[in-house]
Amino acid sequence: MYGLVNRAIEQLVVSTGGEAAWQRVCQRAGIGAEGFVAMCPYDDGVTYRLVGAVSQELGQSAEQVLEAFGNYWVLYTAEEGYGELMHACGDDLRQFLDNLNELHGRIETIFPGLRPPHFEVHDVAPGEYRVHYVSGREGLAPMVVGLLKGLARRFGQSVAIEQLPTGQGLAGCFQVRHLDATSTA
Ligand code: HEM
Repeated sequence: MYGLVNRAIEQLVVSTGGEAAWQRVCQRAGIGAEGFVAMCPYDDGVTYRLVGAVSQELGQSAEQVLEAFGNYWVLYTAEEGYGELMHACGDDLRQFLDNLNELHGRIETIFPGLRPPHFEVHDVAPGEYRVHYVSGREGLAPMVVGLLKGLARRFGQSVAIEQLPTGQGLAGCFQVRHLDATSTA
């Protein structure tokens, strides 16, 4: 994955455990501490190793780390020069999710060879919908839970998110229920 992702993991670790924690994570993951270049693609294995090492460092499961990372990604990208793009994507969670494929499409023009995820939203009831997540990668569904929570927080919306069993071809399926009366799907 692009270095931007690995850099965000680094920032998350440094902001919670300091530089020393990041050095330990790099050592555990067998990665040099020279840092990552945001616009440079790295082997996916590097990202998975980092997640494993952070999980050991914090004594949390890989799923917990991925969820925390997803949550953080919403803040990180907004601060790393993608704020306007995020802003253009919508003012509430539902609208944002409808525009998410286009957002990654735009990012693809800056990051050649990007392998972005794909999302589809299916209405279930007013204020309730299912988000289908398609990816060429495995095991990242907990990150999407964190992303959905982070996005809801960005828009000041209160949501309940349930991860549902997935059918073939889907990397994740999530039921989103808006808890605040003002939010409609
Ligand atoms: C402007 C904000 C964003 C930027 C700059 C961005 C950029 C990226 C980049 C560079 C990757 C790595 C893909 C690769 O290297 O092949 C990625 C992956 C991913 N992005 Fe985004 N993204 C943004 C917002 C979001 C949001 C809001 C979501 C919410 C669901 C999201 C969901 C994901 C997921 C789940 C992946 C993992 C890749 C996979 O599933 O295969 N991204 N994104």
